[in-house]
Amino acid sequence: MEAGCLGEKDGLTFWLARPEDYDDVMAISEDIYWGDDYLPHRYHTWMTEPNRVVILARRERKLVALESGLVVDGGQTVVGEGLRVCPTERGRGVAGVIQRFIEQYILQLYPSVRVRRLTREVNPGPEKLSKFKVLARRAILSLRGKAETFDGFISHLKAKLNTGEVSDGGSAHDSVELESKMITLMDHHQLKALLLDPDLPSRLQLPGGAIIQDWQPLQPVESNLEVLNRRNLTWLVDGCNEKPMFMSFHTPPYPIPLDGGAFRLNIDLFGTIPFLAKAALTAHLEKVRGELQGTVIFHVYMHPSLWEGMKQFCEGDEGVKQCKEFWEQFFLEVKG
Ligand SMILES: CC(C)(COP(=O)(O)OP(=O)(O)OC[C@H]1O[C@@H](n2cnc3c(N)ncnc32)[C@H](O)[C@@H]1OP(=O)(O)O)[C@@H](O)C(=O)NCCC(=O)NCCS
Repeated sequence: MEAGCLGEKDGLTFWLARPEDYDDVMAISEDIYWGDDYLPHRYHTWMTEPNRVVILARRERKLVALESGLVVDGGQTVVGEGLRVCPTERGRGVAGVIQRFIEQYILQLYPSVRVRRLTREVNPGPEKLSKFKVLARRAILSLRGKAETFDGFISHLKAKLNTGEVSDGGSAHDSVELESKMITLMDHHQLKALLLDPDLPSRLQLPGGAIIQDWQPLQPVESNLEVLNRRNLTWLVDGCNEKPMFMSFHTPPYPIPLDGGAFRLNIDLFGTIPFLAKAALTAHLEKVRGELQGTVIFHVYMHPSLWEGMKQFCEGDEGVKQCKEFWEQFFLEVKG
């Protein structure tokens, strides 16, 4: 076997991805997620991220597939991310081959790994459910607008909060109060106390008991604090109770290929109280407005019960509009 080659199977050779493979990886990624792809932005970070393995499959010299695994949850779980097969090789089982290879390779490096988890935007369907267990599903609201229209959109949302259009069990007065009571968690100790509180998963109905950060599921355990810390998130909690009933964060906006260059913003909401969700969304947009430029697409991930109310809350603005029908995030575990 050639130096650097990790293995061979079904006419494919497997390699650790290197920074200089970037252009080849981008070449097989052109049509992915309609340009809403995170990998162009994250690839180089992935090259040096602790406990991450990125594998490439080549047929002869040509790059045909990529899959990555991040070992989390104190070494018990590998989260699969980035899977892609070049268009000319699709439908021939390559995705299965590279996933099986990386699974074995990661087990050699991290024998403590017990489960493989992933998130997907489509339900794998009954024929594949024997392979996957659906741990949870979250609803996604997607909106799009030009950065310069966001000020108007935020004012629109604030006006709805302030006029009490947001009833949801909270009075107009409560809403005004709440908007100012979404607290930014700045302190590492506060965040640690929040996330390691054993009541948190049930109080906030965490999906599958996990925090899903921009499609990456993580158990609320101490070893994952360092992973979350790397992501430079902005955290908010409601300050109404000693034990927050709502928690949210946004990932810093990042560039995506959409329309020749746009920005993507991900806001993850945890909890089920509608007026807190609205206050949190407004507060996140307020915090991020100065960082946005050009076309911005933003995805808000939430408990399914919140989606309809959040959609209505965001309606009626000329600049920022819903850009995708109801869709979902499926949190899956691969059965061993
Ligand atoms: C989705 C994609 C990776 C499938 O690749 P493919 O090689 O054409 O898939 P095939 O249907 O030929 O392969 C079937 C095998 O891959 C697995 N597979 C197919 N799609 C999958 C998916 N989205 N996630 C996980 N596994 C998948 C199947 O379970 C099957 O595994 P098995 O061999 O163990 O039974 C490919 O179409 C692609 O690159 N699409 C664009 C990017 C994308 O949507 N990626 C997936 C989400 S990250």
